[in-house]
Amino acid sequence: MKKLDVRNYFCFFLLFLIQPAAWAADNLPVHLIPQPVSLVEQHGQFLFDHSVPLIINTPGQELNETANWFVNQLTTTTGVTIQQRKSGKNGIHLSLITSGDKNIIGKEGYILSVSPTSVSLKANSIAGIFYGMQTLLQLFPADARTIFAGEQKRLGIPCLEITDYPRFAWRGIMLDVSRHFFTKDEVEKYIDEIVMFKYNVLHLHLSDDQGWRIEIKSLPQLTKEGAWRVKRTGQWGQFLPALANEPATDGGFYTQDEMREIIRYAQLRNVTILPEIDVPAHSLALISAYPNLSCTQLPYSVNAGFHDPVRDDNALCIGNDSVFTMLDKIFTELAALFPCEYIHIGGDEAYKGFWAECPKCQKRMADEHLKNVDELQSYFVKRVEQILKSKGKRLIGWDEILEGGLAPEATVMSWRGMKGGIEAAKMNHHVVMTPWDYTYLDLYQGEIDGEPPTYGMCRLSDSYNYDPVPDSVDEQYILGGQGNLWTERVPNFRQVEYMTWPRALALSEVYWSPKASRNWDDFIKRMEIQFVRFDAAGIKYARSAYNVILKPVRTTGRDFTVTMSTEIKGLDIYYSFDYTNPDSFYPRYEGKPIVFPFGADQLNVITYRDGKPIGKQINIKKEELASRLNERRHEY
Ligand code: ACM
Ligand code: ZN
Repeated sequence: MKKLDVRNYFCFFLLFLIQPAAWAADNLPVHLIPQPVSLVEQHGQFLFDHSVPLIINTPGQELNETANWFVNQLTTTTGVTIQQRKSGKNGIHLSLITSGDKNIIGKEGYILSVSPTSVSLKANSIAGIFYGMQTLLQLFPADARTIFAGEQKRLGIPCLEITDYPRFAWRGIMLDVSRHFFTKDEVEKYIDEIVMFKYNVLHLHLSDDQGWRIEIKSLPQLTKEGAWRVKRTGQWGQFLPALANEPATDGGFYTQDEMREIIRYAQLRNVTILPEIDVPAHSLALISAYPNLSCTQLPYSVNAGFHDPVRDDNALCIGNDSVFTMLDKIFTELAALFPCEYIHIGGDEAYKGFWAECPKCQKRMADEHLKNVDELQSYFVKRVEQILKSKGKRLIGWDEILEGGLAPEATVMSWRGMKGGIEAAKMNHHVVMTPWDYTYLDLYQGEIDGEPPTYGMCRLSDSYNYDPVPDSVDEQYILGGQGNLWTERVPNFRQVEYMTWPRALALSEVYWSPKASRNWDDFIKRMEIQFVRFDAAGIKYARSAYNVILKPVRTTGRDFTVTMSTEIKGLDIYYSFDYTNPDSFYPRYEGKPIVFPFGADQLNVITYRDGKPIGKQINIKKEELASRLNERRHEY
């Protein structure tokens, strides 16, 4: 043992001689997202190479699996392959804290210490170890693979002490796999991406008017019919309806075996899969398979993104007992399949007009003494809650489930702003906050020029600056929040990534880090390092926050001036009115509103940093700017 120590000292001495540059670069930078609770940077670095051992101090199968995950992930992100060893000194030590009182770090926290001779990662649970590993991976240089493949064959990470734990227990991302279907491999890739930033819920929107995505063995028609639609490409919402006898070839679904694999994949990464079956409305895929379940009982096919001039009857008939028999079958299988304690039943955006005219629904209202269709919806949700309870599950739904009276034990996912969440929390119900204008990942993230059309704006700074706990609410009822990615206009996985990042970086900090540590400029610095990591990993992200923000300000009548700004500080803005492409030799925006010169009808603008273009060139018509004069909250 002594001998080994001496040899190690000798090695360090040699390293010192050979690599003076590495040692001189003392305090290596630390760029973590989300920001940890406590970070103390220290001098020096720990050097990784193939010889560094990984030592598990607490035996157990699960910790072994997580350690294997880390070894593989380390190789993928850095090129370094380390080996698990039974014992050893100068390595990475993983330990579960088993003795004494559980400390401040709780269920998902961790304590990470990096010294020149060892890395120690401790946690109360496997989840904490996993998050500590995610932090550890972010300590490597952003271009780690390139550096490691070079001459040096070693990678330094900075010495430090981190104590870290989440602010909220529920840190979710919702992926809509109904409007566009994403394969099992794509869902698993998405899980790998969101866990880098310590998300722990993946909410899958498994049914809607555009597709049913989960095998229900007792109801094979649901996927035979409901998972498929005619194929269309172009602009969502503008597609032509199905032609006569046109085959429905577009779509897909997860078999229960595939879903079990996704669940297992997620579990190993501390992610719970929350399944959503959206009822009573948004149910056209179900109704296309079982047309007798709507009030009108008309035959429908799965919607492929058509604009329907006539409203589809996409809601289940609440007067029809077969609806509840069918839901019982569906939820029986889902309850057995998904370990999540919740099942999400949707509940949003029900058009209640068909219920008002349906004899069966009217009879139900009379029999149950329901005063109006809101109460009819509430009856439906309460009855579904009973079904879920009988299968050992809890109900969560969109905030419309408040209308007509909230089911006794329901948890509310507040999307139409924070109002529904506040109301539910004040009634002592649990809440997951997902207000659309701060957390919806399908919205524009900056200037709309050149982006696929969508219906609102949620800038990176909107997401970063939002807080899920309104002043008037007791924090204990707010479980946490999510970013929600609806996919009507997200037809492929690259676009899933583009819409998710970087806004989900901002949200990860909202849901994990202490509120007091939020700092926009510092976040942007760390985000830019993350962009390098994304580039290295081939993950797509949006650079919209570098683009100019144009705000028309009315002067008189139809006249207006234009102010320009950027979310990220320190950018220069150059512009032209003559259709040419501005660069740093063009007029620079100096902060005073500008006026369109006489006869000019288009403004071209670009942002620069340190003399180099950084944002996208925006070309915008005067008319388009004029049409934005009445826009209230967001200037786009
Ligand atoms: C929703 O965005 N309709 C929940
Ligand atoms: Zn009805």
